[in-house]
Amino acid sequence: MSPRSTTPRDFVYLDNAATSLPKAVGVADAVRAALLRAGNPGRSAHVLSIRSARDLFAARERLAGFFGSADSSRFVFTENATTALNIAIKGILRPGDHVVTTSVEHNSVMRPLRRMEEGGCRITVVPAGRDGVVDAKAVLSAIRKDTRLVAVVHASNVSGAIQPVGEIVRGARRLGAFTLVDAAQTAGGLPIHLGDLPADMLAAPGHKGLLGPQGTGFLYVREGVPLAPLIEGGTGSRSEEDHQPDFYPDALESGTQNSVGLAGLAVSLSWLLRKGADNIRKKEMGLIAELIEGMERIRGVTVFGPKDTAKCVSVLSFLVEGMDPAETGRRLEKGFGILVRAGLHCSPNSHRTLGTFPEGTVRLSPGPFTTRKEIALLLRALRKISASRR
Ligand code: ALA
Repeated sequence: MSPRSTTPRDFVYLDNAATSLPKAVGVADAVRAALLRAGNPGRSAHVLSIRSARDLFAARERLAGFFGSADSSRFVFTENATTALNIAIKGILRPGDHVVTTSVEHNSVMRPLRRMEEGGCRITVVPAGRDGVVDAKAVLSAIRKDTRLVAVVHASNVSGAIQPVGEIVRGARRLGAFTLVDAAQTAGGLPIHLGDLPADMLAAPGHKGLLGPQGTGFLYVREGVPLAPLIEGGTGSRSEEDHQPDFYPDALESGTQNSVGLAGLAVSLSWLLRKGADNIRKKEMGLIAELIEGMERIRGVTVFGPKDTAKCVSVLSFLVEGMDPAETGRRLEKGFGILVRAGLHCSPNSHRTLGTFPEGTVRLSPGPFTTRKEIALLLRALRKISASRR
């Protein structure tokens, strides 16, 4: 999957779970072109405003198509997954409501939930196993009469473990709870069809697996889900009224959108549609399989999370025995030009679950443009780093 024209060539970039690099082909050009002609989308009646509004609509339509939804108005643009998750969590919960979540959530779920707990909500955190996978039955059995929301990550940003979200979402629906899926590490890398995954809400960034610019993201809200807006303001619609419009996406999308970044996202979505999420997954899982196989042969290296590529996304955590993960990350960069993320990955509970708290792990996350040669370089570097400790 070439070309690599937007990659800094001096580095081996294995941090796609933090943000993808390079972006899909054509994204940078689309952002530049949009920046040079962006009016405020849909606010004014002049040609540039209308053109930006059309760009925004095209991006929304493409997003809906990508996730198998017929109604693009239910895709609310946000600046990232964190904003989308905050809109969902704070918009659905009322004081006294009960929430079920898991011990492998990112802080972008846990922190808003803890804030809501201070406001009178109650939270049950269902522990995942040491492999980082939560048991769907345990999640469903935590649902009570007053459970308003089940919030679950689709795949862990630390171990890469795919969670049984289909079973959880369908079960929670039967039991009368709303569901929120955090697709931050799966959107783009794992095929998601909202017809097969009947989540009430799904949040994702545009800049990770969707290969778009930072500053883009979205929240999908199924029709009939009663969300109160987190932010009210100008929408360019019903401007004569003091109150926020109740139709989507305007109900949840106030203020000038990032039409420039979203022009880039529209291009990356087209690129992904052409390549096919299945093909991208196949490629990434081939690289993860090579990593697991190679790392298990290196003395002193421990890999965490599922070893079966059917059960994970393109995220792999490891430790070198006797070495702080930050030091391993530093040596990979300084000695070999390999860029990774070390530490807690904004998900301390995931590390408590894996038994890697408080130091965390070193995380590798290949992307669609990562090559087998780069994986071989990483393995060679790790062999050297591991041998140097003895
Ligand atoms: N949430 C992103 C990560 O896990 C930034 O690295």
